[in-house]
Amino acid sequence: MSREIVIEKVSTIDSTNLEMKRRIRENHTRTDILIADEQTLGRGRLGRTFESPKGTGLYMSLCLKPDFDAEGILLITSAAAVAVCRGIRKVTNLSPQIKWVNDIYINEKKVCGILAEAVTDSNGEMHVVLGIGINISTDEKCFSEDVRNIAGALYDEDSDIDVDIIKNELAQKIANEFYVIYEDILNRSFLKDYKDWSMVIGKEVRFLENEVWYEAVAVDIDNNGGLIVKNGDFVRTLSTGEITLRFAE
Ligand code: BTN
Repeated sequence: MSREIVIEKVSTIDSTNLEMKRRIRENHTRTDILIADEQTLGRGRLGRTFESPKGTGLYMSLCLKPDFDAEGILLITSAAAVAVCRGIRKVTNLSPQIKWVNDIYINEKKVCGILAEAVTDSNGEMHVVLGIGINISTDEKCFSEDVRNIAGALYDEDSDIDVDIIKNELAQKIANEFYVIYEDILNRSFLKDYKDWSMVIGKEVRFLENEVWYEAVAVDIDNNGGLIVKNGDFVRTLSTGEITLRFAE
């Protein structure tokens, strides 16, 4: 992006994605990046909650106005996953991995979720709100019991890092990395990192589609960020949609 990026920070909000969408609907879109210290109604994919306790994570939403077609829009979440990994690698010495399509894991715990939502302003112009939530040093006791088994954080809660400093560095690096990819998203060069950092390729997976579980091996990522799975002669490309992916037991 060549113009100045407007960043706004708030203390507590229901959800940075919800707030950004409200502003877009009201044509009040001066803010490019909205960051909250705490979300009371953090939202994840498939209607799930994204638990966002105060002062322990990065909760931010970017307002985008894509000038490319639906194919490019589909790439936004995979591009964001790569930007998050690049940002985390630059700020920490950690090596995050991507669980298709857009969850970021470290040591088999989910440390980041990404939620991209389309919204139309009152002139009928389409925007995308790209929400990124990262657990920086969230004490697992802060999470509900359901989330505790899955969720992790970049740092232990007793490490002596300054969460605010890490939060600012992550926000800046991830946003920069994202805008660089976004500028030329259709060349898809970011997909190389996406594949290199995938924790799914080569693994046996189960996916739920129309209430039926299927088993297959994840073999590759296609040009649109779809996951190619294979079981004998059966080859399918899963697109982001409503698919739930689990590793086979
Ligand atoms: C997921 O794990 O399914 C996606 C989680 C996305 C969480 C981020 S935090 C900032 C933004 N605001 C929200 O309410 N959700 C996203």
